[in-house]
Amino acid sequence: MDMQGKRVVITGGSSGIGFEIARQLAGKRARLVLTGRRAEALAEAVATLRETTGAEVHGIAGDIVDPATQQHLVAQSQALFGGIDVLVNNAGGVRAGRLEKTTEAELRAMIEVDLIAPILLTRAFLPALRASGAGMVVNIASGIAQMGVPFYTGYAAAKAGLARFGEALRRELKGESVHVMTVYPGATDTRMMTTNKADASMGFALQPVADVVGSIIAGMEEDAFEVVRGGEVRQAMLAQNRDDPAAIDARFLALKPQLEAAVRDHNAL
Ligand SMILES: NC(=O)c1ccc[n+]([C@@H]2O[C@H](COP(=O)([O-])OP(=O)(O)OC[C@H]3O[C@@H](n4cnc5c(N)ncnc54)[C@H](OP(=O)(O)O)[C@@H]3O)[C@@H](O)[C@H]2O)c1
Repeated sequence: MDMQGKRVVITGGSSGIGFEIARQLAGKRARLVLTGRRAEALAEAVATLRETTGAEVHGIAGDIVDPATQQHLVAQSQALFGGIDVLVNNAGGVRAGRLEKTTEAELRAMIEVDLIAPILLTRAFLPALRASGAGMVVNIASGIAQMGVPFYTGYAAAKAGLARFGEALRRELKGESVHVMTVYPGATDTRMMTTNKADASMGFALQPVADVVGSIIAGMEEDAFEVVRGGEVRQAMLAQNRDDPAAIDARFLALKPQLEAAVRDHNAL
């Protein structure tokens, strides 16, 4: 898809990966609506993008889990642009830690923001995306959706659900002018990771957000099915997880005490 002039909604566009997607798309003269719960942070992000890129950027504040916010976002985007070409389901949250130590409220919050909200929002935007004639849905999942990591059980469930949702929807919409792409970022240097103390030795080497988003934009331009970061090393690990999962279990067994201590305060809900 050529992104020039495209009308794009990015949930969670005030920070991190979502903000950088907005910045790079603004450079391609896309027209943007960004969302986020913190109205001030959102207004600041919108102002920065307008000043630095000159692009048309709007902010709509609210909790994307809230059905009223979802409906408002669809109606306002339609009113602003007269239609929508791309929905980026980027807003997300994580709470790491042992399953028994994770509260029901935390588990439900993760599943709401990482899985249910993107499904409902996609459903709500589908008439507009169809009307575009060349629509696209981009779902920001996680590398943890491809390979389960201990102490991220709820997050793995929600993000794996989002990934499979996207695959099923892509096939459902094949030949109907709406494409669906799924993104599997590894650990990325954003606000979400500030409470994660795991390092490269535990598989959490932080990648620069501009590089991660460069791959996402390239994927959008190529109508890719998915964007997987980490190159050959990552592909080899995913193959091993498929062919010899016990070997991956053994690697995590050796890491478990350090990993549990390093991620027990990882909270970005
Ligand atoms: N960073 C990583 O290592 C990594 C790796 C794999 C996947 N991901 C995924 O990438 C996506 C973006 O994360 P990030 O790392 O860029 O984190 P981030 O810098 O914390 O940004 C998250 C964005 O989502 C918004 N948001 C969160 N919950 C929301 C809600 N309920 N309603 C509306 N907006 C909400 C935040 O704004 P407010 O807080 O103001 O609402 C913010 O704009 C997430 O889906 C995350 O799971 C991240």
